[in-house]
Amino acid sequence: MESVAKQLIQPRQRLIKTYTCDGCGRHVEQKEMVIPMGPRKGEIIIANLGCKCEDIRLVEQAIRQGKKNKIKKIYRMFTGNSMMNRSLQSATFKNYHATTTELHEAKARLMQYAKEFNPHESGNLLLVGNYGTGKSHLSVAITKELMAKGYTCLFLSVPKLMTKIKTTFNSNSDHTESDIFDLIESVDLFVLDDLGAEYTNIKNKNDNWTHTKLFEVLDNRSGKPTIFTTNLRSDQLEIKMNERNLSRILDGTEIIKMDGPDYRRREF
Ligand SMILES: Nc1ncnc2c1ncn2[C@@H]1O[C@H](COP(=O)(O)OP(=O)(O)O)[C@@H](O)[C@H]1O
Ligand SMILES: [Mg+2]
Ligand SMILES: [Zn+2]
Repeated sequence: MESVAKQLIQPRQRLIKTYTCDGCGRHVEQKEMVIPMGPRKGEIIIANLGCKCEDIRLVEQAIRQGKKNKIKKIYRMFTGNSMMNRSLQSATFKNYHATTTELHEAKARLMQYAKEFNPHESGNLLLVGNYGTGKSHLSVAITKELMAKGYTCLFLSVPKLMTKIKTTFNSNSDHTESDIFDLIESVDLFVLDDLGAEYTNIKNKNDNWTHTKLFEVLDNRSGKPTIFTTNLRSDQLEIKMNERNLSRILDGTEIIKMDGPDYRRREF
């Protein structure tokens, strides 16, 4: 009697094989089953009973989406005006007035870079020159131009980045160090402003923490368009940075020279 009742609610099934799933590592029973009721009644299906691949896929998807939302949130926070010096907030190509031929050429090249930008093909740039020639200004101008086209861009000075990472160690910080790295990795264009400015004295040459963090950032950006700026010449950079980071930065990077008069002193 009991077996008849059981047959009514349990679908007819035949074991085809058992195996360990490569995807989820579970023991799986593959069965041929006949759908006992409903609109597909009588239809024969193959079911992999015990396989958790689909569940895992759904969980991973949820994690990815959650991560995306988190990155979006930090992105909004990091692209807020508070992250940038006031004098740079209004920087555009239009309000950059080149005072020398070299600076004029630099501006033209950077405008071309922005115009031809492709997150999968554009290379890296290193803007080198003395203080106040508009390296940060033009980098900000590029990010504005690209963001208007719908690209995601992040402009961060090295000292600010290091401070940001340090504040995540604070227990009430609402984002983690890895969130910052995820964000840096995710943007179409990353500008790392003021290379070398993080080492204020020679003692810091052995500051392994900063070197390590910088290396992680460079690693995250490998193969993705990144613009670096520095007020240091190459020999000074060599002294202030470690070799591994410097060679990473210089590898395949187009150097744009931006020496000239300090724009902030032009009145004198
Ligand atoms: N050619 C220029 N035209 C207009 N503003 C400029 C020019 N060069 C620099 N500035 C302004 O001068 C200040 C210093 O420029 P900045 O880009 O920070 O210099 P750098 O990064 O090369 O040291 C910024 O406020 C910037 O907007
Ligand atoms: Mg600068
Ligand atoms: Zn599986």
